[in-house]
Amino acid sequence: MSNLEQTLSIIKPDAVERNLQEEIKKNFIENNFIIKKEKKIQISKSEAEDFYKVHQSKPFYNELCNYLSSGPIIVMILEKESAVKENRKLMGATDPTKAEEGTLRKKYGISIDKNSVHGSDSIENAKIEIEFFFKF
Ligand code: CMP
Repeated sequence: MSNLEQTLSIIKPDAVERNLQEEIKKNFIENNFIIKKEKKIQISKSEAEDFYKVHQSKPFYNELCNYLSSGPIIVMILEKESAVKENRKLMGATDPTKAEEGTLRKKYGISIDKNSVHGSDSIENAKIEIEFFFKF
């Protein structure tokens, strides 16, 4: 049975700043993700606060929102069978020092904040996050 899903991926400011977007996109394509839509944008602090509102009680929330709004990002809709889970596997652990060899965060991440990529953590959040960035 087909289990085609979509998930939201963000190439974060640290990776765009180092011009890694094409290389990171190549990883998605080689792992059989289809990039359905993509755009390069820079969001405001308040948009970042809205996007990351699930983390608003966390001590790192303010830093996180400053960071995501600090420079251009690439937002993408990725499609694949079990896309949410498969993207999380490809990204690796949130903290690059704990991420497995071969994962995006291991290869490109600098720190837990500058971990190069974001991916939706559930099918429900994927829908919310896709709507957030591609509503118009
Ligand atoms: P991301 O998948 O974009 O979702 C929330 C982000 O918060 C996470 O990646 C990290 O970059 C960032 N972050 C910063 N500090 C922490 C922390 N202590 N635990 C989890 N995430 C953190």
